[in-house]
Amino acid sequence: MNRRSLLIIAAVAILGFGGYYYFNQPADPDGGGAPLVNVSIPSLTQSQQVGAVAYAENCAACHGINAAGQEGVAPPLVHKIYEPSHHGDRAFFMAALNGVRAHHWPFGNMPPVEGVTQQDVASIVEYVRALQRANGIN
Ligand code: HEC
Repeated sequence: MNRRSLLIIAAVAILGFGGYYYFNQPADPDGGGAPLVNVSIPSLTQSQQVGAVAYAENCAACHGINAAGQEGVAPPLVHKIYEPSHHGDRAFFMAALNGVRAHHWPFGNMPPVEGVTQQDVASIVEYVRALQRANGIN
């Protein structure tokens, strides 16, 4: 094998691996896909503010700032699909604990959220419901 063909093989290997690596990256949580909906922000009670902080720590990387979703990453939680009569509070606890199989959206599965407590989720739900109400989702 001459030097030239070795170089070609090396190039193909590098490009192949690069492509594999590139296309298998999980969506970059901080990459900031565009928000999927416009969210009006209500004034928040103290416990809703606690929820906002827990949301920012545990959920915003995927569901976006103000739960507005992120293109290519995860859906907005401020969305009619997640109104209380369709996804009750229990759905939030289950999602955080067990993850969610992709079924409404093309974003893939939601993994269980490590280290989030029931108390965190309870306050996150308060916060998300406040955002929903402020945006006509009841
Ligand atoms: C790694 C990304 C990621 C993180 C972190 C994440 N989610 Fe999700 N979540 C998703 C995706 C993607 C879906 C959409 C699944 C589908 O197609 O229905 C989803 C769906 C949901 C649903 C809908 C559940 C159902 O029954 O359909 C709820 C509620 C939810 N997430 C709440 C949360 C909360 C609360 C947090 C933070 C504690 C959180 N998620 C963190 C990616 C994420």
